[in-house]
Amino acid sequence: MSLFDTVPERRGSDSVKWGRYAGRDVLPLWVADMDFAAPPPVLTALHRRIEHGVFGYGGPSPMLTESVLAHLEGEYGWAIEAEWMVWLPGLVTGLNVACRAVDGEVLTATPVYPPFLSAPRFSGRQLNRVDLACRDGRWQWDKIALQNASTAATRLFLLCHPHNPVGRCWLRAELADLAAFAEANDLIVCSDEIHCGLVLDADKRHIPFASLSPEAARRSITLMAPSKTFNIPGLGCAFAVIPDAGLRRRFRQAMEGIVPHVNVLGLAACEAAYRDCGDWHRELLAYLAGNRDCVAAAVDAEKRAKMNPVEATYLAWIDVRDLGLAHPAAHCEAHGLGLSDGADFGAPGWLRLNFGCPRVTLDEAMERFATACAAA
Ligand SMILES: Cc1ncc(COP(=O)(O)O)c(C=O)c1O
Repeated sequence: MSLFDTVPERRGSDSVKWGRYAGRDVLPLWVADMDFAAPPPVLTALHRRIEHGVFGYGGPSPMLTESVLAHLEGEYGWAIEAEWMVWLPGLVTGLNVACRAVDGEVLTATPVYPPFLSAPRFSGRQLNRVDLACRDGRWQWDKIALQNASTAATRLFLLCHPHNPVGRCWLRAELADLAAFAEANDLIVCSDEIHCGLVLDADKRHIPFASLSPEAARRSITLMAPSKTFNIPGLGCAFAVIPDAGLRRRFRQAMEGIVPHVNVLGLAACEAAYRDCGDWHRELLAYLAGNRDCVAAAVDAEKRAKMNPVEATYLAWIDVRDLGLAHPAAHCEAHGLGLSDGADFGAPGWLRLNFGCPRVTLDEAMERFATACAAA
């Protein structure tokens, strides 16, 4: 039995994921948090911080900075300077701040995590969108479409890496193409790398966009957090890495008066997560890869549902257009399964399923998925 087979009781807790269906027999596999307890070293660090008993405003300690720098160097071979870091209470904040800090139009590709679509609007920026291409069962960049969508006023490219919801772990050659495109069009690349610790295929590695070259670093804002990998998003602790001093100054200016300090429990958890949780993390990846395979097999068994391989994240992106449903997410809810609606990601007719849960929950969910497909 795996550590991750334990089913925590989240009904009646403060969980957004489970609260949506309170009092109803609907399994929630929507918002991206996992139904797993945080790693034991994180819990120990939190207990220790709570024992201290004083919760004034906090900031990153030298040990925390050291933990992050060592993690980035050890996991990705990415050596950064401490002064490049800007601490944030979350990545969505970072996406919105990036849109305010960089003057001009914004470019991104759909389907994509919904705040990529709302942040430009909230910041009064024009958003230009392209579609990711799906060729030979693999999501890819359409270079011509990207170039056509980039206007003379476009200054910011929002990159999701690894990609939510399509689950790609972008390869070095793909990233190099994007870096060349950014340079040719003089774009800043805001690379949301929140899922970078969730690469499920042993033969793939996450490559931070900014680590490609000094030129890529100079035009980059990288957003990262321990929140997805170590399942602590409710602790609100994230950071941006911005090597260029001028861009970093503009980013900090855009935060002024709006973005609060990071909470001290998040800081304590982050330090332990990055430094002390290697074994837990390895076990998690193996468990999630098993879950991913269960979802792929269940979707494969449906004639009218399809998905491409999930290389990273705990999210499956399922094409149910052949079911002919006007509202597939509502249909699944009616059959006891709460999924994310593709329309929110810019792709109606698709569903996103979060498989970050104990296998027993997932098995029940996939049975309900089969029932929902049969009833359509
Ligand atoms: C790509 C991506 N960025 C950001 C977030 C949310 O980040 P935060 O909770 O730190 O604002 C998510 C959560 O699902 C995500 O998938």
